[in-house]
Amino acid sequence: MRITMVGTGYVGLVTGTCLANTGNDVTCLDIDQGKIDKLNNGISPIYEPGLDELIQRNAAAGRLSFTTDKVKAYQSAEIVFICVGTPSDERGHADLRYVLAASADIGKAIEAGPGATGGGDGERRAKIVVVKSTVPVGTNQKVSAAISASTSKTFYMASNPEFLKEGAAINDFNKPDRVVIGVSDKGTGDRLRDLYEPFVRQGNPIFVMDIPSAEMVKYASNAMLATKISFINEIANLCESYGADIDEVRRGMCSDKRIGNQFLYPGLGYGGSCFPKDVLACISMGELSNTPARLLEAVHEVNQRQRDAFMAKIDKHFGGGAGLSGKKIGVWGIAFKPGTDDVREAPSITLMEYLLERGAAVVAYDPVAEQTCREVMADKISYAKDAVGALAGVDALVVCTDWDEFKYPDFEAAKAAMKSAVIFDGRNLYRPEQMREMGFIYHSVGRRPVVGEAVEQGG
Ligand SMILES: NC(=O)c1ccc[n+]([C@@H]2O[C@H](COP(=O)([O-])OP(=O)(O)OC[C@H]3O[C@@H](n4cnc5c(N)ncnc54)[C@H](O)[C@@H]3O)[C@@H](O)[C@H]2O)c1
Repeated sequence: MRITMVGTGYVGLVTGTCLANTGNDVTCLDIDQGKIDKLNNGISPIYEPGLDELIQRNAAAGRLSFTTDKVKAYQSAEIVFICVGTPSDERGHADLRYVLAASADIGKAIEAGPGATGGGDGERRAKIVVVKSTVPVGTNQKVSAAISASTSKTFYMASNPEFLKEGAAINDFNKPDRVVIGVSDKGTGDRLRDLYEPFVRQGNPIFVMDIPSAEMVKYASNAMLATKISFINEIANLCESYGADIDEVRRGMCSDKRIGNQFLYPGLGYGGSCFPKDVLACISMGELSNTPARLLEAVHEVNQRQRDAFMAKIDKHFGGGAGLSGKKIGVWGIAFKPGTDDVREAPSITLMEYLLERGAAVVAYDPVAEQTCREVMADKISYAKDAVGALAGVDALVVCTDWDEFKYPDFEAAKAAMKSAVIFDGRNLYRPEQMREMGFIYHSVGRRPVVGEAVEQGG
C-alpha cells in the first residue's frame, strides 16, 4: 500500500520504516527540513537501536522516502498516518495544534488531488486518514471536521494508537502485544487489518472497535502504567519512613500472580514524552466532562513529589541551605530511560536544574543523550565522554538512568576519581551491602541508606 507518515519523530519514523520493511511504499513527511535532510543522507535524527540500518536498507530498496513536500506526500497516499506530537498545553490539556494543522493540509491536498470513486477493483479508493498520535477522545471528529473544511471529497477516518516503547520500538512495532484499530465503517477496518496482518502472524490480536474506545485505550494503558510507578514509589517512601526494604517488599508482593512484577520498580518517577502528558490529558478529560480523575491526579502528584524527595536527600546530605553551593556533582544518565536519546520530561533534567540553582556544578555522562541534552541545557553543565570521566573530583554521583553500563561499573576507578565516595542512586542499581563494603555513602529509593564517614579522596 502507498502510505504517508505525517511527522517523522519517534513514532512516525519507526512505524513508517517498519511498514516499508513489510513491502509497503512509505513516504515520511515532516515540516522540519533539518530532519528530512539528515534522513535523505541516511542519518536518523533520533537514536533507536537498529533503526539506522533498517532505514538505509528500505530507502535503498526504494520503499522508503523522506520529504517536506506536503501536497505530493498526501496526494500519493492511500493511507495517511498522523504521527505528530501532542504535548501538554499550559493547562495540561493535549495540545492538538499540530494534529489540526496537519489535518488542514490533508484537506487541501485531497481537494486539489484526483477524486475518489468509492472503492471497487480498479477504482481509485478514498483515502484513509489514521490518527496514530495519542489524542483525547473526540479528536478524530475534530480531525475529520478540519479536513472537511477544505474538501468535499470522500475520505475515511480511523484511530490507531501506538504502543511502542522507545529503546525497543522496532521490536514492539514488529511484534505488538495487540493492534488497536478504531473505525466507523467495516471497509476501513478491513483495509487496516490487511496492513497489520504481517505483524501478528504469531497470533497476537487485532482489535477493531469504535473510534472513541480506540482513542481511550491508549490513555487507559499509559495511565495504568503510570499508576503502577507512582504506587510502588509511594510504597518505597513508606518503606523508608518505617525502616523496611522495598526490594524485599517487592519480592514478597510481586510473587502474587494477580499483581505480577512488571513496571513496579521504585525510582525517580516516570518521565519521557508520554506518561506525564498522557496522565495530565486524562485528568483534563475528566475536568472537561465533569468526571474528575481523582486517582490520576494523585498519580501525577506522587510523581512530582518523588523527584522532590530525592532532591531533598541530596540537599540534606550537603547540610541544606547553601550546602550544595560550590560542590561538583557527577550525573550518570540523562535520557528518561535507557535505550533512547529522548530527554523530554527526564527526571535528570529536573535534578540537574535543581543542582545548578543551588550553586553546584554538574558533569553529566550519557551513552547517547548528550546531543539532545545540549538542546535543553546548552553549556550550563559539562559533559564527560565516559562514566568515570564524569566523576573527576566530584563531591557525589547521582545515578539518573539505568543504562546497562552503569550496572556493573568499575567501583575502584569510580572511587579513585571522586573527591567524596557518595552515591545517590535514583534507580536502585546497586546492593547497599556491596556499597557499605566498598566504603561508599549510598542513598537509594525505599531502602535504608548506607551512611558513615565519606572517605575524602582528595581528587
Ligand atoms: N514517543 C513515544 O514513545 C510514543 C509512543 C506511543 C505514542 N506516542 C505518541 O505519538 C505522537 C508522536 O510522538 P513522537 O514522540 O513521535 O513525537 P516527535 O516530537 O518525536 O515527532 C513529531 C514530529 O512531527 C513533526 N510535525 C509537526 N507538525 C507537523 C506537520 N503539520 N506536518 C508534518 N510533520 C509535522 C515534527 O516536526 C516532529 O518531527 C504523540 O502523540 C505521542 O504521544 C509516542
